[in-house]
Order: sequence, then structure tokens, then C-alpha cells
Amino acid sequence: MTYPLILPHGGTLINRLLTGNARAEALSAAHSLITIPLSETNLADLEMLAIGALSPLTGFMGEADYLAVLKMMRLTNGLPWTIPVTLAVSAALADQIELGQRVTLAQAGQPLALMHVTEKYRYAREAEAQQVYRTTDAAHPGVARLYQQGEVYLAGDIDVIELPAKNRSEFADLRHTPAETRRIFAERGWRRIVGFQTRNPIHRAHEYIQKTALEIVDGLLLHPLVGETKADDIPADIRIESYKAILDVYYPQNRVLLGVFPAAMRYAGPREAIFHAIARKNYGCTHFIVGRDHAGVGKYYGSYDAHYIFDEFTPEEIGIMPLFFEHTFYCKQCDGIVSLKTCPHDSTQHITLSGTQVREILARGELLPTEFTRPEVSRVLMRAVQEKMA
Ligand code: ADX
Repeated sequence: MTYPLILPHGGTLINRLLTGNARAEALSAAHSLITIPLSETNLADLEMLAIGALSPLTGFMGEADYLAVLKMMRLTNGLPWTIPVTLAVSAALADQIELGQRVTLAQAGQPLALMHVTEKYRYAREAEAQQVYRTTDAAHPGVARLYQQGEVYLAGDIDVIELPAKNRSEFADLRHTPAETRRIFAERGWRRIVGFQTRNPIHRAHEYIQKTALEIVDGLLLHPLVGETKADDIPADIRIESYKAILDVYYPQNRVLLGVFPAAMRYAGPREAIFHAIARKNYGCTHFIVGRDHAGVGKYYGSYDAHYIFDEFTPEEIGIMPLFFEHTFYCKQCDGIVSLKTCPHDSTQHITLSGTQVREILARGELLPTEFTRPEVSRVLMRAVQEKMA
């Protein structure tokens, strides 16, 4: 007996990857069209669009959808959508492009996709920053990226010739597309699947919330984000290594799938939590973990703002069920990972470490406390810290 999987957002899984003659035609046309250079974030979005992770989007957003996303957290058709997916270019480049024209989207001169340009429009950077990031502070990494980009958005459907070279080669064995994760879930007979977003190495608190969630579903999709992150985040290869180091030892193989999520981080906190959840629905997940300060940075968001934002939608229109977790940590007296919901003891009993403390311990050549991080992960992190210092 096979069970129907959850529907993608909007009902249809998008695939914008060209094959056969259409691909050959696009490739030969690409060389004679105006070329648009893509940023790291654009490259991540291109892959996400190509494989249907951003279903129902088929390209970069036009102005009506863009404004609806900013103001109402919806596309013009009413579907929830919280993060603009846009392609910014300089005004000078935009001036050269006629509406209705095709352009080539490229990385380092290499054509990756054609876009049928249906709109070009100016936008207000501060307004976008305030709506999406809840701040106009240029010290916010998402806002900083927004302030550096061109002043005109180009919109239109894209047809992808090939994925960026780095994206094809990096983590090739883990780069399951939504169609692939859906097939794997069906083969394994999983009906309820929880997705876990992360941009950090795995710590015991992560493991605890993943396994707690797994208790009530059939399978766990561990889905580290591998698109662009800010410079002081731990690089994706080390994070993936940290997962690989403990997966065989502490996780049941028939209940867990490790894959990578090609998106770039926005650090948009609550709005990005909705975005992350909807994308994981496209991958076939029915449940999604939202913990403390999901996709947050600095002190821009309240610890649980990413929980509260789900109240602004009905469960049916989001489709995937959020599983909310409080801040979790180790308690000496409870002798386990707990949260303030489950532990009666005061903070003297709790082990929490800041990022700076973690770096200092590792730089001294010491393993992190096992209540905080598995030793297998500590060793991966220590090697990375020491290589950086060398
Ligand atoms: S994120 O930017 O991808 O959200 P991170 O990798 O730190 O950052 O978190 C992954 C997920 O685990 C998020 O849902 C986050 O809210 C949750 N999380 C991380 N640490 C904790 C913790 N100590 N307690 C509860 N939830 C946590």
C-alpha cells in the first residue's frame, strides 16, 4: 500500500530544468543574448527554482507578487509567501533590456539559464528591509546584502540549462531534489516526515529536538542549508562533516535521510521560518521543526517570533505542520536535555555555551562538554578551528 504524499505548495511540483532539444536550443541562443551576472544568492535561488523547491514559483517575481509578499505575506493568488525571490540588476543594465526579450543568466560568463523578461521595476530598499527583516539596519546581514544590490528588479520565468558548477559538484551525493526526496519517502513507506533546517554544526540540543520530533512521525529529513551564509557562520563542508560524523553512530539509518538544502540564508527570522517550512513541504515533509530564534541573527527577533508568525495563517494554507520547540539545553540535575517547559531547576544547573566560548574551548585544543556536543562533532570542529588558526 502506498500513501499519497503531501501536495507541493500551490499543488504542482515545478521543474524548470531543460532537457534534450529545448536545452540545446537554449544553449545556442544563450551566447547571442544580453548576459546578466548572478550573485551567490541568485545562484542559490536559481537552483531552488529549477528543482521545484520554490514551487509554485517559476521564475523571479514580478512587481505585483513582490509587493503582495512585502505587504501581505502572500502571492497575488493568495498563497502564503514571505520572502521576495527577485533578481536585481543595475539601472544601466536594465536600460539595455526590452520587455519580452530573453536574457542569459550566467555565472563567470558561463550560461546557466534563459529568462523571458516580462517586467523591470524599481523598488524601495528600506521598505523591503523593514518588511522582510523588520529593520533597516545595514549591520543586519540580509539587509546589508539588499543594500548592495542593483536598483532594478528583472522579472520573468526561467529555463535552466544547467545548475552552477559548484552546486553540481559540492555534496553531489546529498543534493536530493524535491522529486527525489518524495520518491525516497514513498519507497521507505514514510507517511509523516519532519524536516529540520539548520545552518550550524549539530549540537545535542539539535539532536534532542530532532529525535523528540521523530518520536511522533515516521522519518526525519536532516536538511542543512548549503547556500550562501554570512562570513562568520561555520562553512557548509564542516557542518556536513559534523553530521556525517554522528549519523551512523547515533541515528537509526532507516528513519533518517540527510540531504542538503541549496538555499541562501536571509537571516529574516520569522518570515524565513515560513519560507523554510513551505520549501520543506515541497520536498515532501509533513512537519517542520521551528525552535528558538529560527533563522535569526543578533538581537533583531524575539526568541519565539518565528513561532508566532504561523498564527497569521491558517494551518490549511501553510499545509506543513510546524513543531515548535522552546530553547533546549542540558540540565545537570535532570541529567538530560530539557527546556524551561520540562525542567524545574535554576540556571546554575544548566549548561549553555555561547559561540565565542565554543571557539575558545576548541582553540585551546579541548573537546566541548559532551552534554553540549558529541565528541565526534567536537573533533571535526576542533580540526576546522585549528586549520583556520594555522
Ligand atoms: S537556523 O538559522 O538554521 O535556524 P540553527 O542551525 O542554529 O539556525 O537552528 C536550526 C533549528 O534548530 C532552528 O529551528 C532553531 O530554532 C532550532 N534550535 C537551534 N538551537 C536550539 C536550542 N538550543 N533550542 C531549541 N531550538 C534550537
